[in-house]
This record gives sequence, C-alpha cells and structure tokens, in this order.
Amino acid sequence: MTGRSRDRRPYEWDAAAYDRLSEPQARWGRTVLGRMVLEGTETVLDAGCGSGRVTEELLDRLPRGHVVALDASASMLEEARRRLARHHDRVRFVRADLLDLRPSALGRDHPVDAVLSTATFHWVTDHDRLFANLAMVMRPGGRLVAQCGAEGNLALLLDAVRSLGVERAGTWLYASGEETRRRLDRAGFVDVDVWTTPEPTRFDDPAELADFLSTVILREHLFTLAPDERRPFVDRVRAAMGEPVVDYVRLNIVARRGP
Ligand SMILES: C[S@@+](CC[C@H](N)C(=O)[O-])C[C@H]1O[C@@H](n2cnc3c(N)ncnc32)[C@H](O)[C@@H]1O
Repeated sequence: MTGRSRDRRPYEWDAAAYDRLSEPQARWGRTVLGRMVLEGTETVLDAGCGSGRVTEELLDRLPRGHVVALDASASMLEEARRRLARHHDRVRFVRADLLDLRPSALGRDHPVDAVLSTATFHWVTDHDRLFANLAMVMRPGGRLVAQCGAEGNLALLLDAVRSLGVERAGTWLYASGEETRRRLDRAGFVDVDVWTTPEPTRFDDPAELADFLSTVILREHLFTLAPDERRPFVDRVRAAMGEPVVDYVRLNIVARRGP
C-alpha cells in the first residue's frame, strides 16, 4: 500500500471487536452470498473481507475453489487469517486498497471468476474507480455480487449525531441505486440489477449498541476525541437516538462483467 492509500484511511479497525459484534453484517452477508451462482470450483475475490466471517461461508460454497481475501486493514487481515487457518491452502490474503487494485496484486489468481463484497463499498468513496478496478481483475462474464450502505443509510442516526454538533462522523459514500447503475454501465458491467432494502436493526442490549457504534459507525469520529471523551460521546448519541434502532438501508448489486 502506498502512503497516499494509508492517508485515506488513517484509523485502524478493532478487528476482534468487529468479529464479535458484526452479527448484522454476517446475517446480510449470508443473504448476499446466497445470490452467488457457484459450481464450487471458482476463484472468487472477497473485496473487503474484514475479519473473514462471510469469507468463511464463501469458502464452504467452494469446496474445490479458491478465495482471494482482500482488505486494506492489517488488523482485519490478521483476524481473517486466524479464522480461516483451516482453509490456508485455498485462500490468498491480499492487503490492498480497492482504489489502487491492480491485477498483479492477485498473482496467479488473476483474473477471478467472480467478486463478492459485503458492507465495504460505502467506505470506498470513488465508485467509478472502484468498479473500473474490479472489472480489470475479473474475467469477462464474471459476476459481481455485492451489498453496501445505500443513499439514506443511517439518516436518523446521523441526525442524532448532528444534534450533538458533529456534522460529519465519518468518511463514506452512500450511493443511490440510479447512480450506481450508471457507474456500473460505464465500467463495462452488463445485466446490471441494483436495488435497495431497508434493514432497521434493533439492539436491545445498551452495552452492545454502545460497542457496535464505537467499533463500526462512530469509529472514525472517536479517533478525533480524547480516550476519556469517547464513551460519554457514544452514550450521548444513544440517548439522542431515542429508540435503540440503527436505520440501515442496503444497496444490493448483481451484475456481470461485459465481454
Ligand atoms: C464493515 S467491514 C466488512 C467486512 C466483511 N465483508 C463483512 O461483511 O463483515 C468493511 C471492510 O472494508 C475494508 N475497506 C474499507 N475501505 C477499503 C478499501 N478502500 N480497500 C480495501 N478494503 C477496504 C475495511 O478495512 C473493512 O475490513
């Protein structure tokens, strides 16, 4: 990774906490994975594999296939390596920024037969470049199956954060279905299907909600605060939310790389 890439995302994840808390993402990931048509022998790129929970289920669908588990975060890749150790002969771990992705990063796994990506694309703020890079590493006809935050994602939660005087709690792009469809067309994808689904997610345990907000949604903003200010800020966000419901809206993508 270049220094410039690191500058885009200066804050590391707490990968062990993410692995423990990411039940919502794992549940959605399972649904997204269910949309992949696989024979079991393919090589699939998991673009933004995180701690590897969804990657593990992808590997179960590929008994004679391979996975490239790619992520920009060293801590996430370390956690994924631990989780996927028993599959070591069928997984290649790649630390790379999706915005700088090149075929050479995939070694002999280039070009991949398909790309799976869950809960990642909204962290990548240039989708034209992202889709062009993915197209570059896929074989013609290969499928892209993905899900990320959509336009309107977390609108109520971010209102609650704004009510505390914080205009922008993180760096993300919640794209609309229409603009995503246009971007995929421009990047050379065909048979493009894009749709959004509301996924309001309730946390009945206040401590779990606080940990989830700290680890996932407010992660970047908390790094700008002194350590002893972080938990009080999260508690104020929880109070401002009213109902303990995170108003997720997901953007779903199924497409094929054109010839
Ligand atoms: C919320 S996690 C999702 C992990 C996993 N796919 C899941 O569904 O649980 C988002 C992941 O995207 C990775 N990520 C964000 N921006 C990235 C980029 N530009 N290039 C590569 N990985 C990126 C993060 O490091 C993180 O591991």
